[in-house]
Amino acid sequence: MLAERIKTIPPSPTLTINAKAKTMRASGIDVFSLAAGELDFDTPQYIKEAAIQAVKDGFTKYTPVDGILELKEAVCKFIETEYKLNYSPQETIICCGGKHALYNLFQVILNPGDEVIIPAPYWVSYPPMVMLAGGKPIIVDTEEKDGFKLRPEVLKKHLGPWTKAIILNSPSNPTGSVYTKKELEALAEILVDKPIWIISDDVYHKILLKENIKWTSIATLSPELKKKTLIVNAVSKTYSMTGWRIGFLIGPQDIIKATTRLQSQSTSNPSSIAQKAALAALNGPQEFILQWIKALKERVKYLSSFLKTIPGVTCFEPEAAFYAFPNFSSYFSPKIPNSLKLAEYLLEEAKVAVVPGIAFGKEGFIRLSFATSLEVIEESLNRIKTAMEKLR
Ligand SMILES: Cc1ncc(COP(=O)(O)O)c(C=O)c1O
Repeated sequence: MLAERIKTIPPSPTLTINAKAKTMRASGIDVFSLAAGELDFDTPQYIKEAAIQAVKDGFTKYTPVDGILELKEAVCKFIETEYKLNYSPQETIICCGGKHALYNLFQVILNPGDEVIIPAPYWVSYPPMVMLAGGKPIIVDTEEKDGFKLRPEVLKKHLGPWTKAIILNSPSNPTGSVYTKKELEALAEILVDKPIWIISDDVYHKILLKENIKWTSIATLSPELKKKTLIVNAVSKTYSMTGWRIGFLIGPQDIIKATTRLQSQSTSNPSSIAQKAALAALNGPQEFILQWIKALKERVKYLSSFLKTIPGVTCFEPEAAFYAFPNFSSYFSPKIPNSLKLAEYLLEEAKVAVVPGIAFGKEGFIRLSFATSLEVIEESLNRIKTAMEKLR
């Protein structure tokens, strides 16, 4: 008796794999996980204190649907600092995580049959979210040799009368690649005069792992592009606050107003306590992020050089975020014909949880998260290498 709409929606594969690894661990099996989508660092103490204070102060009731003004102002300031763009609180809404901001957005902009261009590999939730809003995901494949970035001539081929939006996720989950300003300019040249929204999912924009990598948002390239870009960001990844569920949507006022109406009939405001915590996060000291990045740089360096020692594996070196997306397709055989089977094999044989590339719309690859300690990364990679040797 389920609605048609939900029947085609798969559960989030990343959450499923993590759950399976946890169950194995609970039954006493020594499972390691490189499947995490969140940093292993604790939420900083000053952020927790702000939440505790909010509770003590009785800040535990409904807030305005679109979030408290102080937080919306802090988000505007954050965007001004990070993007060098000016927005007003009326152009900002606080949602229950970046995921919720994106979900809302598709509900607000899509009519049945509207197409959304999603470069693959993509973050797992984009296609189901588009489908839940009645839209049609147009998956556009990208190449490892291009750093998994969309080429302008490929974009052109997929634009049509039904195209309503395109998603750009830089830095990318699952590849850790970042679009250069020049690459964005080339895409922008094609998009600027089309009646298309550009959704810029920037939740990893602060986590840059290479000295020469500069992050640019397409919204900053011209006032015309700013008008057609809908920015999604969150405190989840940058401040290690995934459980607090605070994200933001920034864009033209009519979109924000419509999103507020939708939110008023669905979740209402995000948690009042988490909003106070997010406010502290944005306004407080930011130095700890540099420490985290230092640790992530060490991990990515280790992981990248280890992968080179596994025969037949290639890997685009992650520039940002906390994921690597190596190509294991040379190991495919009738016994292990795809990335899902490979992930199952690694969980059973090596007792290491990884996410299969197909979950991100790209066969032949697996996603390895390095949002975990160096010790866990070392042991997991050794186990993976041993398991792969058995397949040769
Ligand atoms: C690319 C991308 N966008 C958005 C999100 C959503 O983040 P959250 O809802 O935790 O803020 C994630 C989380 O994994 C992500 O990887």
